[in-house]
Amino acid sequence: MLNRIREDIACVFARDPAARTRWEVFTLYPGLHAVWLHRAAHRLWRCGWKWLARAISHVARVLTGIEIHPAAQLGRRVFIDHGMGVVIGETAVLGDDCTLYHGVTLGGTSWSAGQRHPVLGRGVVVGAGAKILGPIPVGDGARIGSNAVVVKAVPAGGTVVGVPGRLVDTEAQEATPFTAYAVVQGHDDPYAQAIQRLIADTARLENEIHVLQQQLSQSRAQDAVAADTRHQMLER
Ligand SMILES: CC(C)(COP(=O)(O)OP(=O)(O)OC[C@H]1O[C@@H](n2cnc3c(N)ncnc32)[C@H](O)[C@@H]1OP(=O)(O)O)[C@@H](O)C(=O)NCCC(=O)NCCS
Repeated sequence: MLNRIREDIACVFARDPAARTRWEVFTLYPGLHAVWLHRAAHRLWRCGWKWLARAISHVARVLTGIEIHPAAQLGRRVFIDHGMGVVIGETAVLGDDCTLYHGVTLGGTSWSAGQRHPVLGRGVVVGAGAKILGPIPVGDGARIGSNAVVVKAVPAGGTVVGVPGRLVDTEAQEATPFTAYAVVQGHDDPYAQAIQRLIADTARLENEIHVLQQQLSQSRAQDAVAADTRHQMLER
């Protein structure tokens, strides 16, 4: 379990340029808390403790603003950034390494008892406010633009934007690894690239300042102890 938590925390650093320290990520990322509570709820759901599972999912929603049905299946390192307003339906499936931003709905469009929610492959990124509706497959590495409403299957590596969702520029994303906010590396405008660099530099500098502050306060404490000892020796 600890390994899974470490893995979840590490994946935040790979996907959120604003992440600073492991402690901060562990304590202050509601997306992680929602996923951790969902794991407990999902286990209970599978054991037949359905009311308790729903109760945990409800508590998670109150605490994080993220609603994940306990029956939904989430892969490893699924990361929900910001999170508020995310809804993941009962039969939704998310592959490993998917990233969702706030306001995303993986919803159903029918009352049928079987599969009625989307099935996301690995490494899918769903932009803020996007809705993916119905039992449709979304291929590995696909990117869904913010506020898109997707009601048709999305091919692996495809990018869908707009309402209703339309496929754009599919060949550019084939082998693209994850990038924050799903922007394509090398396709950014120079301002966006400069801002990404500034964010990374600021995070690095903040970390360095934090380490230096710690060292300074340690050496001050040591100095105080040494001064105390000298003072006591002089008094004797
Ligand atoms: C969809 C997305 C992944 C595309 O990124 P990209 O590959 O860099 O694509 P581009 O910016 O070159 O845009 C491609 C086309 O889609 C359009 N487009 C991009 N995002 C769009 C969106 N959300 N809605 C509608 N159209 C969009 C562009 O205007 C462009 O259209 P054009 O070819 O007619 O000029 C990205 O714009 C996006 O929405 N990412 C999610 C970001 C997010 O949710 N951030 C939240 C952080 S808190």
